[in-house]
Amino acid sequence: MSIIAVLLSLLLPSIHNARAAARRTQCLNRMRQDPSHRFPPYGTWGDYRDSSGTWQPSGPSAHGAQLRSWVVDVLGQLDRQDLFDRWDHTRRHDSTYIGSSGTSNRQLMQQYGLEVLVCPDDQTAQDSPGSLSYVVNVGYANIDGSLSSGSGWGSSNYHNYNDPDLDLNVNGSINDLEDQKIHRRSGVMWRMVVDRNGDGLPGQPRPNRSHGPNSIYDGLSNTILVTENINAGNSQLWGDPDPRNCAFVYPISADTTDFDSTTYYAAAPFDTNHPYGRINAARGGPEGERPFPNSNHAGAVNVVFCDGSTRTVSDNLDINIYARLISPAGDRQQGTITAQQPLDGNSF
Ligand SMILES: *[C@@H]1O[C@H](CO)[C@@H](O)[C@H](O)[C@H]1NC(C)=O
Ligand SMILES: *[C@@H]1O[C@H](CO)[C@@H](O)[C@H](O)[C@H]1NC(C)=O
Repeated sequence: MSIIAVLLSLLLPSIHNARAAARRTQCLNRMRQDPSHRFPPYGTWGDYRDSSGTWQPSGPSAHGAQLRSWVVDVLGQLDRQDLFDRWDHTRRHDSTYIGSSGTSNRQLMQQYGLEVLVCPDDQTAQDSPGSLSYVVNVGYANIDGSLSSGSGWGSSNYHNYNDPDLDLNVNGSINDLEDQKIHRRSGVMWRMVVDRNGDGLPGQPRPNRSHGPNSIYDGLSNTILVTENINAGNSQLWGDPDPRNCAFVYPISADTTDFDSTTYYAAAPFDTNHPYGRINAARGGPEGERPFPNSNHAGAVNVVFCDGSTRTVSDNLDINIYARLISPAGDRQQGTITAQQPLDGNSF
């Protein structure tokens, strides 16, 4: 988890650069020593305590309460161990319950807006305490018309590697094991569901599904980890795990022309006309509903790659290259739909 915090700090203004570089070196050393290390989940869901302190389990098929975003997991590395220690991990991110720490989770976010989380060019975030400008790579998502309805994608705004609508190998079975494997290789961070009340029922503990250095086959320097989004953080709660608030996706669209007329979702590099497929394409969208890389910097966004290197990427970037920069293991995809050629270092 120290990794992502160090990488994040590289987005800070240049005044902090010497310190950031030192931490980056330290971070990369740690990564080498611990190949099993993974990035934290983009968001954590699960059972929670209600206002009377009673555990409320998630239903067997439910996803549980919105506990926290990746930001909370890296607070210590963002030099805010004090906030991390006050965070009540047994409650929702937006809980107003005031425990022995004297502050609720909601108050922590609203009273302690963190400068490190906000881009100086993101005006709406500058003006709102608790905001977030930086978002993490959660891969391809089956976004189509749902975003324009203002509801985000899906009915619940979760983003799973086992998406019930995806037939990525296009063999007629939706969400089969191969589809899940392909999907998980399209993004770096995935979500976690925890069983906090320990009843083993709902929200069963699941392994962390985020990737680590050893499963980013396409190269740490060829895979985007963090970028910016001027429409993120709409809840003004940096602990909100809703991916529309703390993550970005590459949109893939429904295609109904397959052999047996079921709806599947075409893989990204093959849908070069998606209106939100390009960097900065969705800049004018409403806050909290456009989880795509965009910024107010002219014609570009800043990104941090998984090795900690930073780059300003032009929004003219070829859409096929962009889609490959998002997937950590696109060259290991199966079938003809999603398999990707390795990237040339000069191509972006
Ligand atoms: C999963 O992520 C959590 C942070 O939420 C971290 O503490 C833990 O070490 C990770 N587990 C694995 C197996 O990587
Ligand atoms: C599609 O592929 C998966 C994984 O290989 C397999 O389990 C499933 O049975 C296949 N579906 C069809 C209809 O062939």
